Amino acid sequence: MSSQQYFEDVAPQWDTMRTSFFSTAVRERALAAAGVSAGKLAADIGAGSGFVTEALLNAGLRVIAVDQSQAMLEVMQQKFGGQPLTCRLGTAEALPLDSASVDYVFANMFLHHVENPLTAIREMARLLKPGGKLVITDLDSHTFEFLREEHHDRWMGFARADVSGWFEQVGLSGVSVGDAECQCCADSACGSQRAEVTIFLACGVK
Ligand SMILES: C[S@@+](CC[C@H](N)C(=O)[O-])C[C@H]1O[C@@H](n2cnc3c(N)ncnc32)[C@H](O)[C@@H]1O
Repeated sequence: MSSQQYFEDVAPQWDTMRTSFFSTAVRERALAAAGVSAGKLAADIGAGSGFVTEALLNAGLRVIAVDQSQAMLEVMQQKFGGQPLTCRLGTAEALPLDSASVDYVFANMFLHHVENPLTAIREMARLLKPGGKLVITDLDSHTFEFLREEHHDRWMGFARADVSGWFEQVGLSGVSVGDAECQCCADSACGSQRAEVTIFLACGVK
């Protein structure tokens, strides 16, 4: 099964599954790092069923949510219809937004699913207006192979120094990659392993 098919299939259950993987603290830290202001426009990339989008809408922002999964976007539309939200089907390598069009870009637990992280980061940075902020929250390097097999992860997390270097390579300034002070947890299907992986928070300014 492809990663794309996996997320199509789990979309109706993703909100419940996600609750067991990580807490709302991660999105609170991401919004705080960006210093979001009500009325501004944010993009949520690899938005899934709207975990970060929900917090952005609650903070009074307008949101464009992008995901490759139509099923995920349909779940999100059902939850947040009538709010200032636009859902767009799109992929990491060719995001369906104009350059320099948004104030913030967020991506939570998206980067470890993409084929080429540097390409994805370059594409996310392209969307930012001058002064706009990119905030990525994702897994630190780990050794839990079952996450690749059972959750279709492509990357076994990232070294923070690599993420920092990628932010700088795409021209972002004021780059910081620190601890989000939360973990992503998952049990293997056979129950013999439990992954507890720390989450980094990367921030840079266009
Ligand atoms: C682990 S989920 C995270 C969803 C959401 N950000 C959250 O925190 O709950 C990863 C999401 O990224 C999407 N995704 C994975 N690879 C992608 C790609 N190459 N382009 C666009 N979306 C992708 C999946 O469809 C899925 O909804």
